[in-house]
Amino acid sequence: PTPVIVAIDGPSGTGKSSTSKAVAAQLGLSYLDTGAQYRAITWWMVSNGIDIDDPAAIAAAAGKPEIVSGTDPQGPTITVDGVDVAGPIRTQEVTSKVSAVSAVSDVRARITELQRTIAASAQDGIVVEGRDIGTTVLPDADLKIFLTASPEARAARRSGEVKGSDVHSTREALIKRDAADSSRKTSPLAKAGDAVEVDTTELTLAQVIECVVTLVEEKR
Ligand code: C5P
Repeated sequence: PTPVIVAIDGPSGTGKSSTSKAVAAQLGLSYLDTGAQYRAITWWMVSNGIDIDDPAAIAAAAGKPEIVSGTDPQGPTITVDGVDVAGPIRTQEVTSKVSAVSAVSDVRARITELQRTIAASAQDGIVVEGRDIGTTVLPDADLKIFLTASPEARAARRSGEVKGSDVHSTREALIKRDAADSSRKTSPLAKAGDAVEVDTTELTLAQVIECVVTLVEEKR
């Protein structure tokens, strides 16, 4: 089959990662978690003492770290300057700072270029998940999915994933991050005009996966 490019966007806690990985694995496609890339560059900024409240400082450093993503859906990897950062990029500190870093346009330009290179070199096709994949990174994707869910469902799913977190504070942090991601000037979180919206509130993960797999197969 010809390579198929699938863009999956939406706010946090909608099941983007679980869905994207499973769909890619089931269909033999590569998988790219673009949120992990923004988290990785944020981790590097924090580790190198860059002031997160200073967009000029972030822009000046944006080209320094080398970020490499492994695209096997069975075991995606992420390194910064050769260091495995899969664990450290999931801390609350990185999570609370990633929106500020990813709002800087020099950061987005750099990461977007990386994403396009990875997508273009995926032989059998790729599932790319993020916030601006359908609108900005891969506007010519064969299929665009926009996942949504109620804030309650999203917070419940996220706090189930993060050890020691309660639903209430997770909900507040999630709403704050989505508001920042949706209101930034450079390629905000948005549904592409030609994206298929899937509301996952009342669906199981298996149902969402099946729905997306069917949509991809129709395009192939
Ligand atoms: O998907 P995840 O929650 O790991 O994404 C972390 C953050 O990375 C988002 O809150 C957003 O600030 C940023 N991001 C982005 N564009 C993308 C993917 C993620 O700005 N395509």
